[in-house]
Amino acid sequence: MKHQTEARGKFASKAGVVLATAGSAVGLGNIWRFPYETGMNGGAAFILIYLLCLIALGLPAMLCEFVVGRRAQRNATRAYGGWPWKLTGCLGVLTGFLIMGFYSVVAGWTLQYIFASVAGQLHGDVDYIRQYFNDFVANPWKSVFWTVFFILLTHVIITRGVQRGIERASKVMMPLLFLLLLLLVVCALLLPGSSEGVKFLLRPDFSKVSADTVFDALGQTFFSLSTGMACLVTYASYFDRDVHLVRSGVQIAVIDTMVAVLAGLIIFPAAFAVGVQPDAGPSLIFITLPNVFGQAFAAVPVVGWLMSIIFYILLMLAALTSIISMHETPTAFVAEEFHLSRRIAALLVTLPAMVVGVLSSLSLGSVPSLRLFGMTLFDSLDYITANVLLTLGGLLTLLYVGWVMPRGDVHEQISNGGRLRARYFPVFMFLVRYISPICMALIFLHQLGAF
Ligand code: PHE
Repeated sequence: MKHQTEARGKFASKAGVVLATAGSAVGLGNIWRFPYETGMNGGAAFILIYLLCLIALGLPAMLCEFVVGRRAQRNATRAYGGWPWKLTGCLGVLTGFLIMGFYSVVAGWTLQYIFASVAGQLHGDVDYIRQYFNDFVANPWKSVFWTVFFILLTHVIITRGVQRGIERASKVMMPLLFLLLLLLVVCALLLPGSSEGVKFLLRPDFSKVSADTVFDALGQTFFSLSTGMACLVTYASYFDRDVHLVRSGVQIAVIDTMVAVLAGLIIFPAAFAVGVQPDAGPSLIFITLPNVFGQAFAAVPVVGWLMSIIFYILLMLAALTSIISMHETPTAFVAEEFHLSRRIAALLVTLPAMVVGVLSSLSLGSVPSLRLFGMTLFDSLDYITANVLLTLGGLLTLLYVGWVMPRGDVHEQISNGGRLRARYFPVFMFLVRYISPICMALIFLHQLGAF
């Protein structure tokens, strides 16, 4: 009995709710994907489409997970009633675990890069840094070490509990993240020639908008808000009864979008100041940017050095608060379903997560034979989770709340038992029943290559 109460924590404050959940949302997706997508897809035109997708799909999906989680006050596998809906929670737990398998590898790289920046090892042209990155990733010890280290770091926070671990860590890390972000934006904008980068990011160019742009924006909204893998269900099960779900959801979405746009205001001004065309993904963050910082501040090397350190700390914080939420979802499941203490449950998640993390790290370099579906283990985990499992989980949640859960129960959560007016409830239900699932189903088919 003691263990059950121990496992069912609660966020102590509304700020804790917003910061912890925003911590989950703000992650690598905001920093290495959003800026690139925006720059390539018509700048402010893309941001506009992104915002529409946020309203049509992102926010409704997020609120649905809040509704399911807070109503159940249980781990994700118990939050959905009846078959086949129960599978949604199980799928979420599995997805969280699998995402951790590749996310922790990249998160580990950020630690290596913090140390490399401090030691001044990232000086050199792009070819040198590419070689540095390839050597590092192929080194079986270094990359594996940092992956394991990162998962252990997450483990320590998780074992401290919902309030003393997740909430407290988020309350420290999120404001720090914001501060570092603003500092870097100011530095980047002060660079001569940075205005070209700002134009590239923000000038609306509707000629670049195509059907694919809309799909990109939909997919990005969804991944960026951490929807589709029941981690919001798990977090919402720790929300108090008087947490205003809609208001919190909007605040989280605003924070998430702001961080993404601000990340673009670092990357593009800095890249354009030195005449580099930025790309997306690992190569942007780990190959192009170190060189950009070095070159951009060649006149005052200390600033370039500091900027690089701060950038990787920022990336590390963003990754850590996201991994915490991925870890918490299976941990809550193990603790509650098997009546184990949080400490043991966390360990039962951490150990296998380390195995998957290590294997996916090795698959990139020293053991290339670790392949699944014709891709490295790392890439296949990324592909299966982002393209298949998250989308499926999101679709099932929308259908569950829209069509299966009694409407009165949904209203009760959205209106906090009638204490809030919830004027937008019919609009919300309309989105959840029709618009969002259709968007979701289209993304799913698109990702499977149907059109
Ligand atoms: N939202 C995180 C990001 O933007 C990723 C994530 C997805 C985190 C799913 C938790 C769950 O990087």
